[in-house]
Amino acid sequence: MNLRFDDSCITVAIVGCGGFIGSHLLDAVLERTRWRVFGVDLDFYRLQHRLNDERCEFLCADLAEPVVVERIAQFPLVVNLAAICTPSRYMGEACEVIRSNYDHPAALATACAKSGSWLVHFSTSEIYGRTAPDSGELEEDSTPAVFGPVTASRWSYATAKLLAERFIAGLPDLKWTVVRPFNFVGPYMDFMPGVDGEGIPRVLANFSTALLRGEPLKLVNGGKAKRCFTSVHDAVDFLFALFAAGGAVAMDAGSGTAPGVLSQAFNVGNVENEVSIAELAGKMRSIFAKVRGVDVSTLPEPQIVSGEEYYGAGYDDSMRRMPSVAKAQRLLGFKARIPLEVALEESLSWFVKHYDTGASS
Ligand code: UGA
Repeated sequence: MNLRFDDSCITVAIVGCGGFIGSHLLDAVLERTRWRVFGVDLDFYRLQHRLNDERCEFLCADLAEPVVVERIAQFPLVVNLAAICTPSRYMGEACEVIRSNYDHPAALATACAKSGSWLVHFSTSEIYGRTAPDSGELEEDSTPAVFGPVTASRWSYATAKLLAERFIAGLPDLKWTVVRPFNFVGPYMDFMPGVDGEGIPRVLANFSTALLRGEPLKLVNGGKAKRCFTSVHDAVDFLFALFAAGGAVAMDAGSGTAPGVLSQAFNVGNVENEVSIAELAGKMRSIFAKVRGVDVSTLPEPQIVSGEEYYGAGYDDSMRRMPSVAKAQRLLGFKARIPLEVALEESLSWFVKHYDTGASS
């Protein structure tokens, strides 16, 4: 069976379809293909506009239930995005984090190996571990993973993700591709604390919340860590390049040769968008001032906080996450294109519009 975008008989299973990346992917599948979607999640608030779409079937469940796992694995293409992936939870909820990032994906991978589905599994840029400030490009297959102290529960997530990758790669007969996202940003990322979620979201939502509430942005340990922020639209384009390249062969159970995109892990990131978190704070303050039509000097100055004080005992950090993107370019012709300023302005403008209803104050 081929995976053609104009084939209305194909159903893609999107696990975590109600999340940040999943909701963008689902929209794009409906807009760019004739496929149907089997969407699984525990929360569908980002998908209100799709709930009655006749090409979608939704299931409110998670991968803890074997019957759900079996059902998902009946579809030819399975994209697994479900995960707990906010660092503030890695310390206090390590067991839940490990269940969602190892146990559940391992069960799904086992079922896909049996059914013959192509599993596109979302891992993380964090599996490269506690990268140093001067670490170079992180290459998918050769960069050593070095973690912090074994007692630092920050790494509960990364080690669970790494083990899931090893499990997937070791499963005989599984058709798999692993995606390692590098700080995707865009509308619908995370939540606003006290409005539609509790705790500390990732940095973009956290800074957006502080700006909207007129509070100082918090720079953990001085904001020296660097990230390559990548637009979620580039991420979706990557997935379509992957589906296009892998589909024809991946779906052909009779083919004995492994095509380029199977049994591969891909970094997905934008190397031109690297900033330190302190620089990010500066850029977001300027964009917010522009969006609001106020002078940036009227906004509170950022504040430095310690990681342990902010996130709790066991917090640790990766100081630089610069992906090698050569493999995605070589095998898929894919390169992220959306500049940092454009991605930040889109995300922050969306955040302001979405949450600035008085609920935020
Ligand atoms: C997280 C996840 O753990 C990764 O798996 C995931 O791939 C990644 O996000 C992602 O979005 O792709 P991290 O980049 O550390 O990793 O998450 P953030 O919470 O966004 O933190 C980024 C940096 O900003 C860290 O250095 C953090 O200490 C800092 N930070 C965060 C602040 O200085 N202030 C804040 O209010 C929040």
